[in-house]
Amino acid sequence: MKLLVIGSGGREHALVWKLARSPHATRLWCAPGNAGIAEETLAANGRPVECLPLAADDLPGLLAFAQGEKVDLTVVGPDNPLAAGVVDLFQANGLRIWGPNQRAAQFESSKVFAQEFMRRHGVPTAEAGTFQEPGPARAFAASLGGRCAVKADGLALGKGVLICRSVAEADEAIDEILVGQAFGAAGTRIVIQELLEGTEISLHALCDGRTAKLFPTAQDHKRALDGDLGLNTGGMGTYSPTPFVTPAGLAALHEAILTPWLRGCAAEGIDFRGLLYPGVMLTANGPKVLEFNARFGDPETQVYLPRLENDLVEVLAASVDGTLDQVELRWSEAAAVCVVMASGGYPGPVTKGKVIRGLTAAAQMPHTKVFHAGTARKGADTVTNGGRVLGVTAWGAGLAAARAAAYAAVEQIEFEGAQIRRDIGAKGLV
Ligand code: AMP
Ligand code: GLY
Repeated sequence: MKLLVIGSGGREHALVWKLARSPHATRLWCAPGNAGIAEETLAANGRPVECLPLAADDLPGLLAFAQGEKVDLTVVGPDNPLAAGVVDLFQANGLRIWGPNQRAAQFESSKVFAQEFMRRHGVPTAEAGTFQEPGPARAFAASLGGRCAVKADGLALGKGVLICRSVAEADEAIDEILVGQAFGAAGTRIVIQELLEGTEISLHALCDGRTAKLFPTAQDHKRALDGDLGLNTGGMGTYSPTPFVTPAGLAALHEAILTPWLRGCAAEGIDFRGLLYPGVMLTANGPKVLEFNARFGDPETQVYLPRLENDLVEVLAASVDGTLDQVELRWSEAAAVCVVMASGGYPGPVTKGKVIRGLTAAAQMPHTKVFHAGTARKGADTVTNGGRVLGVTAWGAGLAAARAAAYAAVEQIEFEGAQIRRDIGAKGLV
């Protein structure tokens, strides 16, 4: 099969790496990819993975390429092309593509849609309201004592959520989004949720429109600094599984969240074929969905795919074809840890082009894979090319061993200004 992966981050490197191991993959392109993706080769025939000079949101360019090469299956990594309707466009042109269509992708592209859907169908979530006008929004925030999360409706590069702990902070956040238009059109509407306390986990469920298959749990580390301090980032590291949910607990999460969600999709004629990633707070009053994403998590993918024992081509094909009920997802017993190495200054502005050293030494370490995110080739060197640079991932028998292996690999790698968190997975050591 000829495969095309859309995207360029650590998530896409993990997807490419796993797809390349499948005997079905005879040709694999990535648009636009990165330096690490370009070093992968296919297990079936030794062919290199080919990176294309096509941006992930260049829908006409991607379509023309897939048509020209007769790509058998396109796999979409990031949220933007999904929200822009890349799946609808490919399908209208008779091409097979994995990911939710534009309507189904609204679970991520519109927080107002997602919140109101949860209310309609009894998916457990925070107490919340959706607003267009500042007056009623302020009144609702005041009724929560100002302790709330104020969220821009649309995609805002993960920055559209403002956590407030007083009425004054909430008023300011509401004004910033609705009046000051800090997020432009993404903020013409907002969701306000009560602030929830508890343990936050990531859920991933592969869906085919009728069936949802829940992955083991993972935990992200969204803040820039150790101890969950610092600014919100795209994610500084992950591990899986977490100790917070037992196998019975996972079945209960399926029943509490995915069962009403699937029923709601069926009732509204929403055909979700792709990956549903609910961000969930485990509270004293049970699990509550904070948000939905309509794609694989980054860096969650980097810890899930090394643990997945199935052929990823077959699994994604079943998601597209509506035959997931015939697939059993199998997970290795190993724990996996991904430590993100980011550029100095991230999540603020960063300087690109720093030479990365030690990748060869890290690649020789056992049970380790260095996934590239923001990297590029410059002559003979691999250089930094973004905020999150590498996802140094290792797996082993138990979380402590996997953490030790991941940090041992991190020690091999250096580039000027590199920043990491030292406590990835620490919460899971019980
Ligand atoms: P979101 O993009 O909606 O997941 O929000 C980003 C982050 O803000 C989440 O990962 C949580 O850490 C935090 N957050 C969002 N909503 C809430 C809430 N209702 N209560 C507490 N924390 C929240
Ligand atoms: N792990 C954060 C995200 O993918 O949005």
